[in-house]
Amino acid sequence: GRVAVLMGGTSSEREVSLDSGRNVLDALRATGVDAFAVDGIPALVDAIRAGKVDRVFNILHGNKGGGEDGVLQGLLTALGVPFTGSDVLGSALAMDKIRTKQVWLSVGLPTPRYVRLARSEQGVRDDVQAAARQIGMPLIIKPSCEGSSVGVSRVHDEAGLVDAVALAARYPGEMLMEQLVVGDELTVGILANGDGHTALPSIRIVPKGEWYDYNAKYIAEDTQYLCPGLEGDAEAEIRRIALAAFLAAGCSGWGRVDVMRDRGTGQFYLLEVNTAPGMTSHSLVPKAARQVGIGFEALCWRVLESSVQ
Ligand code: DAL
Ligand code: MG
Repeated sequence: GRVAVLMGGTSSEREVSLDSGRNVLDALRATGVDAFAVDGIPALVDAIRAGKVDRVFNILHGNKGGGEDGVLQGLLTALGVPFTGSDVLGSALAMDKIRTKQVWLSVGLPTPRYVRLARSEQGVRDDVQAAARQIGMPLIIKPSCEGSSVGVSRVHDEAGLVDAVALAARYPGEMLMEQLVVGDELTVGILANGDGHTALPSIRIVPKGEWYDYNAKYIAEDTQYLCPGLEGDAEAEIRRIALAAFLAAGCSGWGRVDVMRDRGTGQFYLLEVNTAPGMTSHSLVPKAARQVGIGFEALCWRVLESSVQ
């Protein structure tokens, strides 16, 4: 059947998605799949109406016009068109970092301390200073529903709070203030495996700058990636909690769980699940898959195979 590779869209991650999408399209075609590119949800609806789409490979990142927040999944479910990745619930939950954390905490999974920053017509309603005292410095301020570190700031002192909140407030929805875990940045890719799911080897990210921001993710050539990121029991433990975190959030098919590891205690802290992870040449799931002998084409095929409905 014909596979629409859905990419682009109107979210803040449009460029990243186009990059991911072109790679996926090339890989699927190279494996003999009759695949074509579709830019954004309205164009996908047109293609479905024209009877051209048997299945969707969703690599549309982000929310509000992106394909990662459950809206697309509801549409395709209603239309009976199979698609890759998580269903409505897993997509919507994972797009919302605050509510994902609430679910993890409710099942005893570790995630950094946080405060939700509500928004009113006057701007940010909560007392940001009081929240900062509760969390402690250094801390992170981020929009609850963006990706690729868009709108995220690290804050080291009170003077940095105002700009950080103003930046996060440029994006729709809620914001959160989160404890900054000082230590290693790690990520774990998850793939469907028969009836269940399996965690790929972790990747430890060593950015040349202070942290793994948008530039370090997609532009810098000097970000280092170590895979597996940890050894022995620690590696087994991070895979275990990442898989548990993915399943607790109702996710399925494939995804990537971002994790911090405290440099002092070695304790893991879950940050978020990405339900349409990047597939750019800099991206992480392809690197982890390669480590276990799954090349990029095989990875795309495996994700496609696991599409739901
Ligand atoms: N949100 C980006 C695409 C990622 O998680 O890879
Ligand atoms: Mg993300």
